[in-house]
Amino acid sequence: MRLININYIDVEKYEYYVAKSINSNGVVLLQQNVKLNHNYISQLKLKDIKYVYVNDEISEGIEPNDTISTEKYREVKGVIKDQFNMVKKGKNIGLNMNIINNTVSEMLDIITSKRDITYSINEIKVTDDYLYEHSLNVMVSCLYAGIIMKYDKIKLHKLALGALLHDIGKVSINPDILNKPGKLTDKERSEIETHPEMGYRYISDNYGDEVSALSKQIILQHHEKWNGKGYPNQLAGDSIYELARICSVADVFDALTTDRVYREKMPIYKASEYIYSLGYNDFDFEIVKLFLSRIVKFKEGSIVKLSDGSKGIVYNQNKHMLDRPIIKLLADKDGKNIMYKNIFVDLIEEKTLFIEKQLESILSN
Ligand SMILES: [Fe+2]
Repeated sequence: MRLININYIDVEKYEYYVAKSINSNGVVLLQQNVKLNHNYISQLKLKDIKYVYVNDEISEGIEPNDTISTEKYREVKGVIKDQFNMVKKGKNIGLNMNIINNTVSEMLDIITSKRDITYSINEIKVTDDYLYEHSLNVMVSCLYAGIIMKYDKIKLHKLALGALLHDIGKVSINPDILNKPGKLTDKERSEIETHPEMGYRYISDNYGDEVSALSKQIILQHHEKWNGKGYPNQLAGDSIYELARICSVADVFDALTTDRVYREKMPIYKASEYIYSLGYNDFDFEIVKLFLSRIVKFKEGSIVKLSDGSKGIVYNQNKHMLDRPIIKLLADKDGKNIMYKNIFVDLIEEKTLFIEKQLESILSN
């Protein structure tokens, strides 16, 4: 099984079977095991679905290891969407903190029960649901970081709750500005930059007793930068709460790895490099290093080009070296198909080889 960009599906040449049923707004568009054809692909494009899990010849024997199952992810996203929409509806309706806290506890239990702490981010994201998915992804990333930092359950819950609500202030900002494809005017930018304070005020005014001070500070401080050039209060270094410093890394990482109307998503390994390069200026560099150390850089099923010119598919992870997985070779350096030879390259053993880049398809360069 592998995740594929539907623009790179060639049904004339190869056979692809849907590996995980495809949903849009709670409706099943395609069931598992359906064979893809031109008609189905046009339908997916109409629904703005860009990535699907397929079973095909080259991905035989591969099982992408998702941190949160697709079903659970969908379910939790639905809960967040409902809750955030309640906030939009106005004064008398709002968040149900029992539901929110139960959601946080459930995610905390799922993640703390996993034995290995490698984090494989969810790559199927729906543009229209950006705020809800982003809130969920940032919560999950923060939980991973908190676990690596050996936080106890109470602190993890505070971290996750603040992360889930970090952008709640965006609910009241005009979506046309939030999703504007072009450059923002100064006025639009200032409007967006009110969201940490708006969110902080909304939670403090309405749920002051139910949400801890630390969670609220995450909402207020998640756009502060280590060098003091963030907003709203230009705090620097240790004067930013540690939990907010974690959230700011997770926030940028998720934004980079998601398609937006104004730019394409970055592959995980590139986003990791970028976050690393921002390290000393924008973030607490110690947190950046911890955060990146457990993120799967090339997910199982990704097509990659190696430094000797050969191409392959990521077959399995090396849990202690997440940028050097085990690759099954598909084509040699001259482009000759060698898939049938079943040659596996373990990049921990092959020390002089490295992944040059991730490709959308075996035919890409
Ligand atoms: Fe934000």
